[in-house]
Amino acid sequence: MPYCICVDKLVAEKIIVELRRLRLLDDEYRIMRIGNEVLVPVKIKELGEIELSIGRMRIVECHPPRRKKMEELKIPSLDIVGDVVIVRETVLKQMKPEEVVSAIKQIYPKVKAIWVKEETSDTYRTPVLKLLWGEEIREVIAKEYGIKLKVRLGEVYFNPRLCEEHRRLSQLVKNGEVIVDAFSGIGGFSLHIVSSKLCLVIANDVNPSAYELLLENIELNKKKLQGTIIPLNLDAKELTGVIRRKSVDRLIADLPMWSLDFVDIYEELLKPGGVLHLYKVSRINEEELRLELLDFFKTWKIQECRLVMEYAPRVGIYRCDLVKP
Ligand SMILES: C[S@@+](CC[C@H](N)C(=O)[O-])C[C@H]1O[C@@H](n2cnc3c(N)ncnc32)[C@H](O)[C@@H]1O
Repeated sequence: MPYCICVDKLVAEKIIVELRRLRLLDDEYRIMRIGNEVLVPVKIKELGEIELSIGRMRIVECHPPRRKKMEELKIPSLDIVGDVVIVRETVLKQMKPEEVVSAIKQIYPKVKAIWVKEETSDTYRTPVLKLLWGEEIREVIAKEYGIKLKVRLGEVYFNPRLCEEHRRLSQLVKNGEVIVDAFSGIGGFSLHIVSSKLCLVIANDVNPSAYELLLENIELNKKKLQGTIIPLNLDAKELTGVIRRKSVDRLIADLPMWSLDFVDIYEELLKPGGVLHLYKVSRINEEELRLELLDFFKTWKIQECRLVMEYAPRVGIYRCDLVKP
């Protein structure tokens, strides 16, 4: 039997936040509005009272419906960006559109738009989006560890699943380094790095919209930034025309489909001993990937290859860290 506290609707939001902070909100059940009152399920398992900021509240027995978990709803894959949900097109082959919408709204009642994404492989790596439900919201702000990333959906590449990778990589950087983020998109890696380290990042993307958003994102986060970002809007092949050769400590090459097309650029820009973080699509077999890389980087040392995320069945995106001899 679940237990709830019953509060006036005017203070419900505040109480929910307080209970969540105290880890007393029972997420297994739905919060219910009854007239002017709201029943909030709590994790306390006996009748009695609880002292909250608005005073003592009575704990009562209640019968709220159980929330469904994502696994029970069987939506294979979705991404949340701000208050927008993006699902893969394949989802609609397995479920009816109205089932997808209803399942998502149960889990994320505050969602404002649900988009369906078709994978594309154009140069800018931008998805084609179709609105499945809600408002036609294209501009959203995603948050990664307090860093704000403005995204214009459909115009630029953005993947919220890279959040942890942005952070992990930024933790490898040391103060004083010169870094090139050769395929920066809207600036995920660059902003994580300069918000935690005193260093110089040259962030480059060929997509003019990604470059515009990178400028906006630098502005949005300027109070947090310790280091400096120089934004560029070039084809990565042109970087050797504007950056001094052998002057770079670390180079991020996040273009997993085509990162091996730019090996001569990495070679020219990195200092001896400099580190290349190369992202590469590969079948889930680390040995094969290492052999493939040795063809391109004969004398380099491959420090580590790690799976960053799954890309398709049995295909992953890897990050390999290579040290230039
Ligand atoms: C996988 S996305 C990068 C994502 C980004 N690192 C992040 O963390 O969000 C690859 C990016 O490379 C850019 N791009 C593709 N070809 C390029 C080129 N020749 N030179 C520079 N940028 C390129 C695309 O516009 C796209 O934004």
